Amino acid sequence: MNGEGQWEGTRGLLRWYGRAKRDLPWRRNATPYRVWVSEIMLQQTTVAAVTPKYEAFLRRFPTLALLADSEEDEVLKHWAGLGYYSRARNLRRAALSVVADHNGEFPATFDAVIKLPGIGRYTAGAILSIAFQKPYPLVDGNVIRVFSRLFGLKGRANDPGFLKKMWPLAERLVPQASPGDWNQALMELGATVCTPATPSCGACPVANHCIAFKKNIQDKIPLPKASRKPVAVRWTFLWIEKNGKVLLWRRSEKERLLKNLWGLPEAGRLAASPGRLLATVAHAITHHALEVALREASLDKCAVAPPEARWVPRGEMRDYLVSSLWLKLLKGR
Ligand code: ADE
Repeated sequence: MNGEGQWEGTRGLLRWYGRAKRDLPWRRNATPYRVWVSEIMLQQTTVAAVTPKYEAFLRRFPTLALLADSEEDEVLKHWAGLGYYSRARNLRRAALSVVADHNGEFPATFDAVIKLPGIGRYTAGAILSIAFQKPYPLVDGNVIRVFSRLFGLKGRANDPGFLKKMWPLAERLVPQASPGDWNQALMELGATVCTPATPSCGACPVANHCIAFKKNIQDKIPLPKASRKPVAVRWTFLWIEKNGKVLLWRRSEKERLLKNLWGLPEAGRLAASPGRLLATVAHAITHHALEVALREASLDKCAVAPPEARWVPRGEMRDYLVSSLWLKLLKGR
C-alpha cells in the first residue's frame, strides 16, 4: 500500500484498462438493467458465447418493465443455448420484484440488490460498482487467479476456503473513484493477460508489483481446480410424430437435469415402445457426461398423451426446445 492507502498498482491497472479494454456491448451505455443482464449471463458462460445472445436478448427485452411483463417460456426461449436456465427464471422473477417493490427502478443499495432472486455477493458488487459507481468489491474466478499471483497466495482456484480469503482483499483494494472500472480491470486482466495456463507477463501492466512474477511461479499458482469426475448418464428420447406434429413433454421440477424445461419424452416415461435408432450424440451438462439416443416411436394403441405433454407442429419445436442438447440431437430434423 502507498501513503494514500492505495495499492501501488492501482493507477497502472486502471490506465491499462482504459487503453486495452475490449469493446463489449454491456460496456456501452452501462445502465443497471443492461449491466445486470450481462452479469447474470456471464456467471457461467464465456464472453464469446454471451456477446451475440446478449444483443438479441436486449432487442427482445429492451427494458426491465418489458422483461417483467413477459411469459416465462418466452424468456427461456431467448435464453436458448446459454444453459443454466434457472438464471433466466430468476431474472424474470427479479424483474417482477423490482416492479412490485421498487417502482420499476433498479435498486441502488447493497441490501436491496442482494435480496433479488439470482443475485449473490459477486453480482451485487458488479452491478453496484459498474452501474452505480459505488465502491463494492467483487471476486470471481479471474479475480482469484489475479490476486493469488499478485500477492503470491497459494491455494486451489475452486476451494471455498481460498475464495473466502479473497473477499477481504478485494474490499481493501477497491478504490473509491472508478470502482466499476477497477473491478472490470481485474476481470479483464484475468481474461486476457493473466490467463490460467501461460500468462502474458510481458504485457502485464502490474508485473512489477507481482509476487508470483518476481518468484517466477506464475505458472504454478493458483493450483488447478480439483477436477470432479463427470457422472455418466445414458438417455433415450423418443421421436413421436403424428400428422406433422411432434409430442413434446415438459420435464418436471424434480428432474436432475433440464428441470422445468420442454423436451422430447424420455423412453420409459410413457406408453410407447422405442423403435428405429435415429441419432446418437454426446453432450455435457454440469458434471454429467450424457450419451443420448433418439429413437422413433409411436404411442401404444389406446394410450393418451399425459397432461405434461403437448403435440407441437414440427416448425414450432424450436420455440419449446431451448437446451443446445436438442439442437445437436435433432440436427437436420
Ligand atoms: N466477466 C463477468 N463480468 C465481466 C465484466 N464486466 N467484464 C469482463 N469480464 C467479465
